[in-house]
Amino acid sequence: MIDAIVYVSYAGHTKRYAQMLSSKLGIPSYSLKESKKNISKKSDIIFLTWVRAGKLVKLKKVRSRYNIKAIGAVGMSNPSKVNTANLQNNNKINLTKEKFFYLPGGFNMDNLKGINLTLMLAMKRSLTKISESRKLSLEQRQMLDMLNTNKDNVKENNIREIYSWYMRESKKK
Ligand SMILES: Cc1cc2nc3c(=O)[nH]c(=O)nc-3n(C[C@H](O)[C@H](O)[C@H](O)COP(=O)(O)O)c2cc1C
Repeated sequence: MIDAIVYVSYAGHTKRYAQMLSSKLGIPSYSLKESKKNISKKSDIIFLTWVRAGKLVKLKKVRSRYNIKAIGAVGMSNPSKVNTANLQNNNKINLTKEKFFYLPGGFNMDNLKGINLTLMLAMKRSLTKISESRKLSLEQRQMLDMLNTNKDNVKENNIREIYSWYMRESKKK
């Protein structure tokens, strides 16, 4: 039913989820670049990508090339209903066609360069400044904590929901 897992990863967290899922489901995983040589257009895929400023990186491009059955969005925010709903709205996810999962990734300032590093340093400065004059919201505190401590939240346990979804779908066919 699913031909491959296709992923886009900048600092490696999404790639690790793709590899975990690949061995658990027995489906090959390819970076977007590799996928072009290995699977045909319109293939049914699970698409894993990272969240950048609320947007799912390369979603439009991948949607136009493949038939996305499920999306795994990897970000540094803590999983919550609000975060998931925001990502679904911001990225115009059609839930009747695309199943949506949020996977907690990680963050390490040392892995960033160029514009991505500039953006995250600016965010860290801005949140630190706000925190000096007033209390941060829970999301802001979690974000600042992540920016300060280089967390890695990639765990096998986090792919449980995608795994169960895949097993249910496979039984339908
Ligand atoms: C420039 C930039 C913007 C980001 N914006 C968000 C965001 O809006 N929401 C979020 O949850 N994580 C955000 N992140 C965190 C990444 O999604 C997170 O580090 C993810 O694990 C990266 O995946 P990767 O290691 O596969 O590249 C951002 C990271 C960078 C570098």
